[in-house]
Amino acid sequence: MRTESKLLIRALRREATERTPVWLMRQAGRYLPEYRAVRGQAGGFLEMIRAPELAAEVTLQPVRRFGMDAAILFSDILVPLEAMGMRLIFDEHGPQLPQPIRTRADVDALRLTDPRESMQFVGDALRLVAAGLPADKTLIGFCGAPFTLASYAIEGGTSKSFANLRTLMLRSESTYHALLDKLAEMVARHLEYQVNCGAEVVVLFDTWASQLGRDEYLRSAAPWSRAALGSVRGKVPVIAFAGHADHLVEDLAELPIEGLALDHRTDLPAAFERTKQRVALQGNFDPSLLLGTPESVFAKTQTLLATVEDRPGHVLNLGHGVLKETNPECVGAFVRAAQERRR
Ligand code: CP3
Repeated sequence: MRTESKLLIRALRREATERTPVWLMRQAGRYLPEYRAVRGQAGGFLEMIRAPELAAEVTLQPVRRFGMDAAILFSDILVPLEAMGMRLIFDEHGPQLPQPIRTRADVDALRLTDPRESMQFVGDALRLVAAGLPADKTLIGFCGAPFTLASYAIEGGTSKSFANLRTLMLRSESTYHALLDKLAEMVARHLEYQVNCGAEVVVLFDTWASQLGRDEYLRSAAPWSRAALGSVRGKVPVIAFAGHADHLVEDLAELPIEGLALDHRTDLPAAFERTKQRVALQGNFDPSLLLGTPESVFAKTQTLLATVEDRPGHVLNLGHGVLKETNPECVGAFVRAAQERRR
């Protein structure tokens, strides 16, 4: 099937579709026994990402089991930081970057690399997934937005206060700008590489943009998201995600994107009005509702779909990633609710 005819692509173009396309953030993950088996075999998360056969296998697992409309490459937004020379570790506390960026010299030491060399495993995994994916399904690539990558690079991991990030932004603005310039260039290269290797849609994850007020988002984050997307503009549809960012919905919709992913705290019908048909909307089922019974998930998903009515440009997804405690049958019920409802 040609990319243009696929359900997800048509919905992102805001064309009328026979039903709502569906996929889930973190659809490959620890809630699936077949994922845990591969992870055990590989020895760890990064080991799985760096082995194209294993990354492709776990990317395809949920599609095989549930038949959602898209596969998102199994990787992580922090992989390009490693490709730039940062040390990256994943342990039970999540990601750690033990040599964080704090000075201009640290920024200057980051290398802009060619993803064909520094992240060849990403391209290889994408090609394997493309070969194994049913013809009507869409292959999704992704990157972290420069601001969110900067927050990990500067904090050295996940943070509550983002004190190091904010200090650098406020006291060493030129260093902060130099870092964002470099990250935007690496993201642009990584996105273009993924498209060249078969990604038909890309997602830009700006998880921590919600830390910023509107003015600051527009001044300190959005320009670099825009720059990063330059390399794929007009080639494939782009979806932007920023969790917990109801206050940024109008601003995010102004990015050069086709789709905006909303988290479950945003009112979905109202968001269609707020974004004035500029973009398709993705979301926004509360991932913790998947901890209920399959019957309750099916009914609540139907309710969400009913609130959208027959507005064009809706992609069913969660407001954030699948939790590892989720019963796979509840993911099945979520997917079925979209597949069984005609528009
Ligand atoms: O959605 C998918 O299934 C595609 C693969 C994917 C992962 N991470 C796999 C993953 C994608 C698109 C991401 C994006 C990502 N990674 C984001 C942006 C989206 C978001 O969640 O807000 C962020 C902030 C990260 C960084 C990251 N990776 C953190 C903070 C953690 C630890 C917390 C956690 O959820 O476990 C990860 C680990 C991670 N990334 C896992 C997976 C499947 C769990 C790894 C494991 O098996 O132990």
